[in-house]
Amino acid sequence: MRFQEDKNILEAMKYIRRQNELYYNRTGRKKLAMITTYGCQMNVHDSEKLRGMLNYMGYADTENKENADLIIYNTCCVREHAEERVYGNVGALYSLKQERPDLIIGICGCMMQQEGMAENVARRFPFVDIIFGTHNLHSFPELLLKALQSNNTVVEILNDDRNIVEGVPINRAKGVSAWVTIMYGCNNFCSYCIVPHVRGREKSRSREDILSEIRDIARNGYKEITLLGQNVNSYGKDLHGNYLFSDLLVDIDKIEGIDRVRFMTSHPKDLSDELIKAMASCKKVCEHLHLPVQSGSNNILSKMNRKYTREQYLDLIARVRKSVPDIAITTDIIVGFPGETEQDFQDTLDLVRTVKFDSAFTFMYSPRQGTRAAKMKDQIDKDVKKQRLNELLEVQNFITGQKNSVFKNRIVEVLVEGTSKNDPNCLSGRTRTNKLVNFKGSPELIGKLAHVKVTNPKCWTLEGEAISEEV
Ligand code: SAH
Ligand code: SF4
Ligand code: F3S
Repeated sequence: MRFQEDKNILEAMKYIRRQNELYYNRTGRKKLAMITTYGCQMNVHDSEKLRGMLNYMGYADTENKENADLIIYNTCCVREHAEERVYGNVGALYSLKQERPDLIIGICGCMMQQEGMAENVARRFPFVDIIFGTHNLHSFPELLLKALQSNNTVVEILNDDRNIVEGVPINRAKGVSAWVTIMYGCNNFCSYCIVPHVRGREKSRSREDILSEIRDIARNGYKEITLLGQNVNSYGKDLHGNYLFSDLLVDIDKIEGIDRVRFMTSHPKDLSDELIKAMASCKKVCEHLHLPVQSGSNNILSKMNRKYTREQYLDLIARVRKSVPDIAITTDIIVGFPGETEQDFQDTLDLVRTVKFDSAFTFMYSPRQGTRAAKMKDQIDKDVKKQRLNELLEVQNFITGQKNSVFKNRIVEVLVEGTSKNDPNCLSGRTRTNKLVNFKGSPELIGKLAHVKVTNPKCWTLEGEAISEEV
């Protein structure tokens, strides 16, 4: 379905835009919207769609809740900590709403899609105006109109369906990189994970829609795209053809104007030889693979329902490295999964030392209601989890430092994103292997590829200086 074909949504958007124009004519002030995003890139990109719809309706962006007319929290529920922050932040808006009853507060995203959650939140925070989920993001203008016209909380959570809504306006973050969703949902049901419960089953976008979006992105001056999906390696399997992820990469590689192509996330069980071949042959596809392993113990991997063994994972890494030498490999690891013994944990440390990941996101297992692992016996004590996490971090940090140290005096290609967050006199960008580089160079390099000599490799960043203007 195309967004532009839904008359109700279009009418709601036009109506609100007209009201906001009248408000602007009356007051000389534009209405302002603030969006706070939790969670993964999928949510970050959904927020770009919300911002696209809001801008169309005449709202300008703000990062300050004190002057916002509309505040949206786009939530995540992958771990408990993410939820607690949302509760705290929404609760804190109560006094703002008392002062300014016209303020519209919305909550959306994965957390709202959990069973019973929307009703709970509506009960606990009755001053919230709109609650919606991941499957009806595109209906936001209609829900906003309802909320503007009533005093009750508007709640609409839909169940997953096979429909993909194309053409939702997107206001992308400015810069060099753009996100492109190639598929929605996940079919894997790893036993710890809430994502399939809140994002629904796998649905691939058509190749035409993806390619035309990327051409459009290139025309708008972006240099790098990251293809998004919970499990991009299974792209196309639901489309009943034989056009798969590797074919998509080959086609994207030909699009002019784009210098770099990245993708995430890859599930080891679906990483095919064709994909490895495509990664090796496509010039724009970067030498970086994020391949979550989760655990180094076969016993835990099986309880996690990951569908690969430690040996298969190691074999995969060897094959990838053989075809794409110098590729950076990063991963996700969970410690303290139910039943994880000291030996299981040692197996994870051993795998980490064997693979030598460039970096790793490490998490303490967090039970999620409705998942199989949450009901498993032998939940691990919080202190043990913490201790294992620290031990793992220590091992990985040492490896990350070691891996970065070989870059000393090397010349790397950096796509320059802007000035460095910590030092406005420095530029900042990433290598093809996704390492962050802070370096001295002319601000004219921003948005371009530059050659940088690494002078001081650190654990989290490489420091250096530009040796030529553009590549
Ligand atoms: N689809 C991606 C990412 C999913 S969420 C993938 O399959 O890799 C990102 C990471 O969060 C996961 O890789 C996992 O390491 C972590 N994670 C997910 N559920 C978790 C839980 N219940 N407790 C702790 N970490 C979790
Ligand atoms: Fe969650 Fe597993 Fe799906 Fe990733 S592959 S989103 S970890 S169920
Ligand atoms: Fe969180 Fe939803 Fe992403 S649960 S990690 S925002 S898919």
